[in-house]
Parts: sequence; structure tokens; C-alpha cells
Amino acid sequence: MMTATEIRQSFLDFFREKQHTVVPSASLMPQSPGLLFTNAGMNQFVPYFLGVWTPPWTPARATDTQKCIRAGGKHNDLEDVGYDSYHHTFFEMLGNWSFGDYFKKEAIRWAWELVVERWGFPAERLYATVYAPDKSKGDPGEFDQEAWDYWAELFRSRGLDPDVQIVHGNVKDNFWMMGETGPCGPCSELHVDLTPEGDTKGSLVNKDSDQCIEIWNLVFIQYNAESDGSMRNLPACHVDTGMGFERACSIMQCTDGFKDFSRKPSNYATDVFRPLFDRLEVLSGRKYADVYPAPGSKKVGAQDDSLQEAIAFRVIADHLRTLSFSIADGILPGNNGRNYVLRRILRRAVRYGRRLGFTQPFLAELVDTLVESFGQVFPELAARASTVKEVLNREEASFNETLDRGLELFDAETASAGKVSGEFAFKLYDTYGFPIDLTALLAEERGLEIDMDGFNRLMDEQRERARAARKSEVVRALDLKTDAVTEFTGYDVDECAATVLEVSRQGDSLFIITDKTPFYAEMGGQVSDAGLIEIGGTATM
Ligand code: SER
Repeated sequence: MMTATEIRQSFLDFFREKQHTVVPSASLMPQSPGLLFTNAGMNQFVPYFLGVWTPPWTPARATDTQKCIRAGGKHNDLEDVGYDSYHHTFFEMLGNWSFGDYFKKEAIRWAWELVVERWGFPAERLYATVYAPDKSKGDPGEFDQEAWDYWAELFRSRGLDPDVQIVHGNVKDNFWMMGETGPCGPCSELHVDLTPEGDTKGSLVNKDSDQCIEIWNLVFIQYNAESDGSMRNLPACHVDTGMGFERACSIMQCTDGFKDFSRKPSNYATDVFRPLFDRLEVLSGRKYADVYPAPGSKKVGAQDDSLQEAIAFRVIADHLRTLSFSIADGILPGNNGRNYVLRRILRRAVRYGRRLGFTQPFLAELVDTLVESFGQVFPELAARASTVKEVLNREEASFNETLDRGLELFDAETASAGKVSGEFAFKLYDTYGFPIDLTALLAEERGLEIDMDGFNRLMDEQRERARAARKSEVVRALDLKTDAVTEFTGYDVDECAATVLEVSRQGDSLFIITDKTPFYAEMGGQVSDAGLIEIGGTATM
């Protein structure tokens, strides 16, 4: 049976044999605007798809394993983590890429060759999906007959009926977009029937079932989604594939190389997670045992006490990976945007740590184990391990100070009120640093309702107050003639049109005072922003 390291290497070797250059994972800090985190293997290749950059590889092919985070934003799996066995906030996506080189035929044939012929997935348990637009809903493009024909030939070669093994999907399941804008196109996914009998005939495909999961998505990139909602044809067609590495490991390892489907595969029952669980067991003195949703349900129950420790092991291991890889890529927990998503994730991990008896910072003690498993593939993690530990310790220590007090308050308040009001959720957020999803989790565990509308209203009011206060901040650094106050627009936009109020020369420096600016001024220990100002068609620093 292959280890996770061998499975990853086998994927990369296979595509190296097909003349792909192996490239490193991009940082989790996205290069494309509009993303919170790198959320797909294709993010780093967007300029090639758009024709802005020329691929440096001959032939124009690449393969890699990409660090991805799907938390917050368009693709968000945070709520499922721990409660099912195959969604994560952090995961690796194995991919092969063609930049205007091969297209559907090779992408589909090679996917089959790797999965069925080299790795040995049973063909009769595989279901391929193809794009079938729902024209009544305005889905773009046409039925993907070409992809259907290639899959059909492969299934027939194994004596299988393509009408059973190929499932149609509309824009929701078979048209891939990384965000609201950017390169996109129809896709074809491979799903695996994991039931003991393997005879579901495609009925569980795309039904959110852990008995039939998607392992590989082949995207045929041919459009760019524009900000006005239209689809522009790209100058060339490209291939973007993404295989869920942990899912592939789980199916191969949990079935003992496809010999035994009686045990349901779980990503957590692989050597991707096992070393972290071993370490957590030592640190906590508790044992991890794999848990599965009851037949017919999609998730393990949040209110089932007997499962709480297992869920905590999973959430902590998942969140630790997200936090460590992000911090190693320079994304730190903080108060806004992606930084706040990380802070929320860290606070969730700390809260789950309580279930395993941790009352002092413990996450940093898992970092060396993570480095042992992944430091070779992702050397940046090994290189920045001490920073990762420092940040985790600092953040955890500061949240620990308020967590217990907040939990006590939560129990006292809900015992009398029987529900969570918007005011109370806001107080927990504002005074005790409880992200709203942590409060929502506490409420769910106790079967309580939470007034989200009330909470959101108070959040909006607070934002408005902060905005008004910022506008009235006046900082005078120069001896100026104008009394006007420069409005700071940088919390909302990165560029804006402005009127020049005054120009003042002091020594070698030229100061241009405008009525508005997106550039943060140096103050309160923060460094200032830098950028371009364009006056009369000429840009200057
Ligand atoms: N971009 C596709 C996905 O993320 C395939 O890589 O699923």
C-alpha cells in the first residue's frame, strides 16, 4: 500500500513522464485580486491562461501539488471540517496543466491511465461527470459531447455502459470558476463509489454523500468571466486539473489498495493526519478513534457527546495545518479580511482544544510533527517553523485569557434567556473576542437559536461608527495653507480620483495635498503606504 508521500510522488512522476515540468506550490497569499487565500491550483497560472505571460516550459505543461485554503470566500468548507471525513480548510491539490497545448482528449485519457491503469481504482466504481447546461436557467455554453465521447470510449473498453458511468451536471456542478471573475470553463469530474457493494449506478454523484466522493476535477478553461457577468472567449484553450490529495490517499489506504470496501474511507484515517493525532494523543492523554456519520446523515452530530473528542482531534489537526502553512507564507492572524479568517480559525482550534483538556497554548507543540511530514515538500514550512510557533503561542495565550470568562458568560446568559440574542453575540465578539462562528458553534452544540440579523445590525453600526471616527481624524504634519482635511479612502479602495489642494516643497521633497487619498499616512507606529499618483496623464511615485 502506498504512503501519502509515495502517492504524491507517483502523481508528479506520472505527469513528468508525459513531459510536464514539476513546479513548486505557490504561496497561500493569493496573487489574484478578489481571493482571500489561494484556493485552487490554477490561481498561480491565471496570467498564462489569460495570455498575459508566455509559459516558460516546453512543451507548455506543468504539474504540481498546490497548498489550498477554502475558508471564507466563494469556496468555503469551514463548517464541514471535523463533522464529515473529507472536507478541510487546508488541503493539497495535485494538478496537471496545459497552457494552450493539449486539451480534452489527453486530459481525460491520462486521468484514466493514472487512476485506473497505474493506481488500480476499480473502473466500475468510477463515475465521470460532464457539463450539460440548463438553458432554462441561462447556463453558458453547450453540452460537452467531446468529453462525453472520450469517457465513453474508456468505460466501454472495460465493458461498462457509458450511459450509467457518465453523469450530466449543469453550471452548479460542472462549470468551474475560481471566483466571480477570471479564467473558467466547463469541467468533468471523477467520482468514486465507496459503498461496500459499489453498485449505486451513479445515484449518489453530487449528492453530498461520503459514500461517493469527487476525487479529481478536469477543467477545460476557455472563457474569462468578466466583472460585468459576461464570458469572454480566451485566445487559447487550456487544461486545469485538481485532484484532492487527501481524498486519493484515503481511498487507496482505507481500502487496502482497493481490496476491501467494507470500511468507509476517511481522510483522517491516513498517514496525512495520523502523525498529528499521535502527537495530540501524547499531549492530551486522550485517544482518537475514527467516527462516521450515522447511515443516512451527512455529518457527525454536533450534539452527540460521545463524538466530541474525535471531532476535536480532527478540527485541531485541520486548523493547525491551515494556520501553520499560512503563517509560514506570511499571513498572520489579525483583525481584517484573510487575517481575521485565520484568527477565527485559531480561536476555533483553541475552543476545541478545551474538549481535550488543553487550557494552555498547545498548538505550537504540533508544529514539529507537521514539519516532519511536510517540510520536504514545502520547505518554507521548515524554514519558518520557529516563527509559526511564536505566532501560535502569542495568539493562543491572548485568547485563552478571555475564552473561559466568555464561556461562563455564555452558559449563564443562555441558561436564563434560552437563546442567543444579537446583543449578546455582539458583546461576546466585541468584549471577549468571540468570532461569530464560535458563538454559532456553541449555540449549535446546545441546540439554541442565534439572532444573526440582530448581530449583523450591530456589526454594521459599529463599522459605521469606526468609519465616521476615522474620517474626522486630522493629522497635521506640515505647515500648510489649506485647512481642508484629507479624507482617507484606503479602508474601502486602493485607488481614487482626488483634487489637488496644495503643493508644498520642503527641501528636496515635494508634498502634494489632496482632498482624498487611499494612502495610509505614517502614524501610530504604522508605516505609510507607497504607490503612484497620476497627474495630467503622468504617473510619479
Ligand atoms: N480549478 C479546479 C478546482 O479547483 C481544478 O483544478 O477544482
